Amino acid sequence: MAFLSDALKRVKPSATTTITQKGRDMQAKGRNIISLSVGEPDFDTPDHIKAAAIDAIRRGETKYTPVVGIPKLREAICGKFKRENELDYKSSQIIVGTGGKHVIYNALLATLNPGDEVIVPAPYWVSYPEMIALCGGTPVTVDCGIEHAFKLQPGDLDRAITKKTKWVILNSPSNPSGAAYSRAEMKALTDVLLRHPHVWILTDDMYEHLVYGDFEFVTPAQVEPALYERTLTMNGVSKAYAMTGWRIGYAGGPEHLIRAMETVQGHQTSGTSAISQWAAVEALSGPQDHLKVFRKAFEERRDLVLSMLNQAKGIVCPKPEGAFYVYPNCAATIGKKAPSGKTIATDEDFVTELLETEGVAAVHGTAFGLGPNFRISYATSNALLEEACTKIQRFCAELR
Ligand SMILES: Cc1ncc(COP(=O)(O)O)c(C=O)c1O
Repeated sequence: MAFLSDALKRVKPSATTTITQKGRDMQAKGRNIISLSVGEPDFDTPDHIKAAAIDAIRRGETKYTPVVGIPKLREAICGKFKRENELDYKSSQIIVGTGGKHVIYNALLATLNPGDEVIVPAPYWVSYPEMIALCGGTPVTVDCGIEHAFKLQPGDLDRAITKKTKWVILNSPSNPSGAAYSRAEMKALTDVLLRHPHVWILTDDMYEHLVYGDFEFVTPAQVEPALYERTLTMNGVSKAYAMTGWRIGYAGGPEHLIRAMETVQGHQTSGTSAISQWAAVEALSGPQDHLKVFRKAFEERRDLVLSMLNQAKGIVCPKPEGAFYVYPNCAATIGKKAPSGKTIATDEDFVTELLETEGVAAVHGTAFGLGPNFRISYATSNALLEEACTKIQRFCAELR
């Protein structure tokens, strides 16, 4: 009898974690490595949020909480949805989980049956297809090429929908491409979804606050209120509030879906950390001044990285609207010889050679379902970004 489950056979380990670990191993052996492979802000959690957590510990807020989260946090989330997204949710329509990842996973676990399809625009966040497969569903990826700035086209969405489609996942701004949908682009997608009443929308708004210039963030149920009854609006504090380690994600949706997710969560993690929940109350309802500071720093870094990468031989990098990633194309380097003598046949070879030759860790595009590209996370200092991009330029110039 096999010891490991069939469900486990359906998933691959995360490529982002694998390359980050490879960089760490090389560093441990004394190599100077610049890691541009991790998806977390380099900023610290703002002090007023930390203080709220310390306060909560002192008050003895150290016990189990309701499965869906403490009432104060659910109220703060309702306030956030109303204030920032023009969405009316009652507390009973909110669930808090252990990070955004957990909330998405529970939504899929609560709804997918074998054979159910979930549409995932590619390039995608590595966890979507794996979570869908773990839950017994079938990921249906739709390529969103560089010619469309990595955005899902309405006609392609329409063609991908079948009778078996249960969800479509929309992630704007996107990990890995940074692409975000304008109101008009989002409306074109929601118009398609209006014509398919059996399809639900899972919107991953994790990078909502990280949009640059005068770009306006929108979420599907805001753009098309007629979709409210079949949309799960997922968000979290990890990226915007530099709180990746606190593990707080949340979602608003129709009450029957939230109750189903509550049932799953009730037998799994129960309520997430009480202390983190109190910190999240402060994050969502306290001062928001740090957001501007983070945004300005990220925007400067995006522009720096973009300009330097576009000067690298054979690299084409479109300008993304948000998140802290760029997703350059490296098609013109395929078939060339690296300084080691190895021929670069794939984007995975490109990032492997780049790491070994120059000590810069990036993640290959095929891990995100669309290549030949690579993802650079610019959530690190300007000095390191400049050094890394100079190394990428040198690496590309030396390809023969
Ligand atoms: C697109 C996207 N969604 C969700 C998450 C998960 O966020 P959390 O750390 O809150 O689980 C991430 C984190 O990398 C992400 O990039």
